[in-house]
Amino acid sequence: MGVAALDDDHRIILGVIVELREAIAEGDDHETLGSMVIFLCDHILTHLRREERLMDKLGYPGLASHRVAHAELIGWVDGFRAAYTREGGAWLNAERLTFPLEWWMKHIRTVDVLYETFFAARPGEVAEALNTEDLFEIYGFDNAPAEGDDPFLPGA
Ligand SMILES: [Fe+2]
Ligand SMILES: [Fe+2]
Repeated sequence: MGVAALDDDHRIILGVIVELREAIAEGDDHETLGSMVIFLCDHILTHLRREERLMDKLGYPGLASHRVAHAELIGWVDGFRAAYTREGGAWLNAERLTFPLEWWMKHIRTVDVLYETFFAARPGEVAEALNTEDLFEIYGFDNAPAEGDDPFLPGA
C-alpha cells in the first residue's frame, strides 16, 4: 500500500495466520498455540487502530466506511478470543482461521488499496503521524505523552 509500517503489519499478520494453521495441523502443544493466538489477536487490533488513527489524522475521506469494514474483523477477534478462552486449545482447528485469512487478503486488495494514492500524496504527514504512532506503541494507548511533551525526557 506504500506505507511501510502498514505493509509490514499486513505481511506479519498474514504470516502468523498461515503459521498458526500449520501449527494446528502439526498438533503443536496448547502453550505454543495459545501464545500465537494472543499475538495474532493483539496484532490485528493494533494494526486496525493504527490504520484508523492515521486516516483520522490525515483527514482521509473514506475513514467512516473503512471503520465499518474493520468492525467486522474486530467482532471476529472478540468472539474468537472469548471462545478460545472458554473452550481451550481443543476447540481450535484450522477451519476456524479461514474467516480471518480470507478477510485479511480480501480487505487489503479491495479496501486498504483505496487509501494508497491518498497516503502516497502526503509522505511528510504520514511520516509524522507514524512517528506519533511509535510513541503509542512505547507508552501504551492510554499513556501516550501529550503533544509537545518531550518523550525522551523521563517524567516529561
Ligand atoms: Fe490494513
Ligand atoms: Fe484496513
